[in-house]
Amino acid sequence: MKNDILSALQAASPVTITEQMIERPSQAGLGDFALPTFPFAKELRTPPKLIAEQIANAINHPAIQRAEAVNGYVNLFLNRSSIAQNLLDTIGEQKASYGSLNEGNGANVPIDMSSPNIAKPFSMGHLRSTVIGNSIALLLEKIGYRPIKINHIGDWGTQFGKLLTAYRKWGNEVEVRQAPIKTLLQLYIRFHEEAEEDPTLNDEGRAAFKALEEGDEDALSLWEWFKTESLKEFQRIYDLLGVSFDSTNGEAYYNDKMEPVVEELSAKGLLVESDGALVVELSEGMPPSLIKKSDGATLYATRDLAAALERKKVYDFTKAIYVVGNEQSLHFTQLKQVLQKMGYDWANTIHHVSFGFILKDGKKMSTRKGKIVLLEEVLSEAISLAEHTIAEKNPTLFNKNEVAQAVGVGAIIFSDLKQHRKHDIEFNLSSMLQTEGETGPYIQYTHARANSILRKAGITGPFTVEQVNDYEWAIFKLLYAFPSVVKRAAEDLDPSIVAKYAIDLSQSFNSFYGNVHILSDLPLKNYRIALVQSVATVLQESLRLLGMKAPKEM
Ligand code: ARG
Repeated sequence: MKNDILSALQAASPVTITEQMIERPSQAGLGDFALPTFPFAKELRTPPKLIAEQIANAINHPAIQRAEAVNGYVNLFLNRSSIAQNLLDTIGEQKASYGSLNEGNGANVPIDMSSPNIAKPFSMGHLRSTVIGNSIALLLEKIGYRPIKINHIGDWGTQFGKLLTAYRKWGNEVEVRQAPIKTLLQLYIRFHEEAEEDPTLNDEGRAAFKALEEGDEDALSLWEWFKTESLKEFQRIYDLLGVSFDSTNGEAYYNDKMEPVVEELSAKGLLVESDGALVVELSEGMPPSLIKKSDGATLYATRDLAAALERKKVYDFTKAIYVVGNEQSLHFTQLKQVLQKMGYDWANTIHHVSFGFILKDGKKMSTRKGKIVLLEEVLSEAISLAEHTIAEKNPTLFNKNEVAQAVGVGAIIFSDLKQHRKHDIEFNLSSMLQTEGETGPYIQYTHARANSILRKAGITGPFTVEQVNDYEWAIFKLLYAFPSVVKRAAEDLDPSIVAKYAIDLSQSFNSFYGNVHILSDLPLKNYRIALVQSVATVLQESLRLLGMKAPKEM
């Protein structure tokens, strides 16, 4: 709409008009857009009131129905019918692809997301990373990129030496099989408690990790088993969330890819010895990046360096994304600096998409010290709460379980995505499951309501839009904005833009539904049903872009 306005004003004005000059009046009676002419008075040596009149008289554009000069402003009223007709035709034709772009030209974008650690619980942080990463992948795909979702599993590091030692001392196969993560975590905690009394345990742990690194068969097969059992547990969560990955190359995958990196660093003269360890020194005020410990062991940072180089080689990306909590900001700043020092300009195409904590009653939801919140339990609780609501609202619904899962899981996803990711979010299952207010279920119910109207309407025919009331117009403005909303969300890597949009669209639709006789005003029925259909299409697509399901009936 703004483009139309701009060209209409351009043609009618004696001065150059830019987009920034155009305002959106807050009062409905003042038009859809307005141009204040005060800034031109000096240059034109004419009072603003006169300039506004001249421009208003000269306006002549199909998208504009009328222009009024009021106190130095040119108020513009759009030709609602022609805009509405165009939009309904376009959305009716393009359906789910409305708003798609080819900005990315198919370029690869690896997205490092989820990335839990094996033998440890899947934390709230991993949930955020999974949900945010998945939506960013969908958004980038929508504007023409090829996202590559990578689950960079934490499956390597000295902690596995400790775990092996603990398992050999106190472990039990049956328990691990029954509840792998819980059992392995307990073993790990016990190791730390006992190591406080008996520090030689730490040496045993280190030796066990060394054996693992050197390919000791017994160590490797235990480690493989821990990994398989953990991944099985994680998979249940991914199935519930409806998230899949293009690669699960975790930290261990880079074992044989680190030595060449260390050699490259040394050949480039970047490795410095510090207390027996090898580090890369970074800019002033930045702690050095630790590449190798004094005992020769590699680190998290070493593996990420190897991973970044490997991804550049394999995917030749135009940008690479890491969806990881705020607390790892330093790590990613260091990673980028090391790459820069190695002479890789593409380091600045790496984006650390960081996010805040999930809080419960203002405190961080922790997975530490036995007080673990198991995510799978949280998800099933959400689903069973959703089941209750459905049993009340629509007891005869045929696919109840499927819908309850879509709503329960959707509620959690939406409450995560509706605020900017940098904020901490308060976790409250019952408020995120409300069917009123800014929640996932509210949007899903609105989408289902639109579909139920469509079912009742049956088959409808062609239409010509003759008039558009204020309730309808509020919806059209939003439908019109959808492509630019998607573009901005994808470019800013910010799903909350789409989440807020979905709330706005649902609210305007519901007030239209509450105030307009959609099915009974017969001459207008076909037009209004086309509007309902467009809303259903765009809401469904918005939910999809957030990684949520959109049941047609609830
Ligand atoms: N496994 C890590 C953790 O749980 C997150 C890994 C993020 N990705 C990466 N390439 N460093 O903290």
